[in-house]
Amino acid sequence: MVDLTVEIAGLKFRNPVLPAAGPPVRDGERIRRCVEGGAGGIVTKTISVKAADPLIPRPHMAEVKGGFLNMELWSELPPEAWFERELKIAREVTKAAGIPLIVSVGYKAEEISWLVENADKYADAYEISVHYIGKDPTPMMEAVKAAKNSGKPVFLKLSPHPGIDPVLWAKKAIEAGADGISAINSFGPVLALDLSTPLPDYLLKGLPVMGGPDGTGWLSGTAIKYLALKIVFDLYKEMPNIPILGVGGISTGRDAMEMIMVGASAVQVCTAAILQGHEIFGKIVKQLKILMEKMGFNSVEELRGYTHKIWKQRWIRYVSTPPLYYPEKCTGCRLCEISCPYDAIKVVKGKAILYEDKCFGCGICVTRCRFGALEMQY
Ligand SMILES: Cc1cc2nc3c(=O)[nH]c(=O)nc-3n(C[C@H](O)[C@H](O)[C@H](O)COP(=O)(O)O)c2cc1C
Repeated sequence: MVDLTVEIAGLKFRNPVLPAAGPPVRDGERIRRCVEGGAGGIVTKTISVKAADPLIPRPHMAEVKGGFLNMELWSELPPEAWFERELKIAREVTKAAGIPLIVSVGYKAEEISWLVENADKYADAYEISVHYIGKDPTPMMEAVKAAKNSGKPVFLKLSPHPGIDPVLWAKKAIEAGADGISAINSFGPVLALDLSTPLPDYLLKGLPVMGGPDGTGWLSGTAIKYLALKIVFDLYKEMPNIPILGVGGISTGRDAMEMIMVGASAVQVCTAAILQGHEIFGKIVKQLKILMEKMGFNSVEELRGYTHKIWKQRWIRYVSTPPLYYPEKCTGCRLCEISCPYDAIKVVKGKAILYEDKCFGCGICVTRCRFGALEMQY
């Protein structure tokens, strides 16, 4: 029987799949839907001292090929609305489900002190967003200390801005008193163009999809999954005892498993919940459980950091090792032949033929085969 419960910084989660700060947790009502959808705990949308509404460009969200762009800031609701209504609902529904409520707050220390004072009767823990505070870690450390005055667990949310060293920032956050790290926020700014929306004036096609002054946005979803994995991998390698909430491109149980294998204690999901609805949390949990059962993992703790454990035993190879080939599984689809830069595979009469003398051992054919006819040799 797989145990999906996790304990992080003294907080008990019913499973390791939480929403990340964003539209799916923008108010109490949506938080209720996340709980009903099977989330293991809750993280709220980032609350700041002023509502973000007048500052948000329109449009500010778009699905793009392989990912998602947004130009959203923090909560569009004033903090008073959170203290008087939204956090009350959030507390009620999380209490009924027996799961923790992490309140996301930003940005400067004095603002966070005020927010924490007012949110404290509802919160089990805090997540600090530092998306807009620049590249000097000192204000981040002050912000962590301000939240830590509550005596409750504090997670620092890392933004993967160019020029910011995630391991260094994580270490500084821990030094300031943080109990764990959430990694990562969206990446950017990046640019995407709109060629598809029917506009009355066709000459306008080719405009940026985001409506802000420079048309750029923050990238999330599958497009940042591998960046997030790398950062979580590096954080775990340096600080294996520090809890990490892995965020970025998680939409399936397999994504969640990968994130936990590189070192996350739990995962957070934003884009997939926007695109697929609040039921996504339960779906990911179910898929993760089935995968863990299949692979013989009994608990999230057992799965956590698994990649680091087997990595040491894995061969590091610089010689050409052709893949194993199972002709009975080959359908002759030609994906391997098309992608082989060395002409080492040809499909003849519906079956691939592997020319081992030409094979450079690059591995692309194995990842392209959809039928298990090629396998990497380790
Ligand atoms: C529309 C949108 C709004 C977001 N708002 C916040 C926010 O208020 N605070 C925050 O820390 N992160 C925010 N994020 C970042 C997400 O929490 C998450 O870190 C990022 O999108 C990567 O995860 P994903 O690929 O699952 O979306 C937002 C992301 C999106 C797409």
